[in-house]
Amino acid sequence: MKVIIVGATGAVGKTAVVALSGRHEIIRVGRTSGDVQMDIEDIDSIRAMYQQVGNVDAVVSAVGHVHFGAVHEMTSEQFMTGIYGKALPQVNLVLEGFDYVNDGGSFTVTSGVLNRDPIRGSSCAAAANGALDGFVRAAAVDMPRRIRINAVSPEVLEVCREKYDGFFPGHVHVSSEAVGLAFSKAVEGCLSGQIITVE
Ligand SMILES: NC(=O)c1ccc[n+]([C@@H]2O[C@H](COP(=O)([O-])OP(=O)(O)OC[C@H]3O[C@@H](n4cnc5c(N)ncnc54)[C@H](OP(=O)(O)O)[C@@H]3O)[C@@H](O)[C@H]2O)c1
Repeated sequence: MKVIIVGATGAVGKTAVVALSGRHEIIRVGRTSGDVQMDIEDIDSIRAMYQQVGNVDAVVSAVGHVHFGAVHEMTSEQFMTGIYGKALPQVNLVLEGFDYVNDGGSFTVTSGVLNRDPIRGSSCAAAANGALDGFVRAAAVDMPRRIRINAVSPEVLEVCREKYDGFFPGHVHVSSEAVGLAFSKAVEGCLSGQIITVE
């Protein structure tokens, strides 16, 4: 299969690259890194990426940033960071991708643990994850040409333990291998409309 992985150099995206690269042709996409550069927050840039890469069998996205902060101190603009920084870019990657994904292909987006197991200050992140999970569940119903769509929703990765030290009390840390298997299931398996959790 020919597989686009957006965010291929990131902690999460790397797990998909490692899990899939032995068996498939991987097109690594990042804002500044990878085989092809694209800003997923810019819809024209998404269109240009698809035009450059051409038809593929799978599109994987492992990007997104959100606002962290207590809900009573959060502004509307800060809340929208999660929509414009995480949910909408990944939705746009799907909406713009239909002309480029082959019959029976797949889309996989990345949400995360915080809408099912929140931490302090995570309402923006939880809303972005919830938006993505809801989109995936319902979009699967409408998918044309046997195209599948799933979300990978991991706990905090072991490799990010130091980065998030103290922010996720009591949460488990998951291995990169386990997250990679979730992307393998989404891309190489048969599921659609699923939130594939790794915890
Ligand atoms: N890390 C975790 O433990 C964890 C757990 C659950 C969910 N998640 C979710 O997984 C996603 C990725 O997180 P991460 O920790 O892997 O992030 P990360 O390590 O910071 O990696 C981000 C990746 O996305 C690319 N990227 C950033 N902005 C971009 C843009 N505007 N357009 C295109 N590519 C862009 C980066 O490429 P460049 O360097 O080239 O910009 C990089 O490859 C996020 O939505 C996060 O919430 C992460």
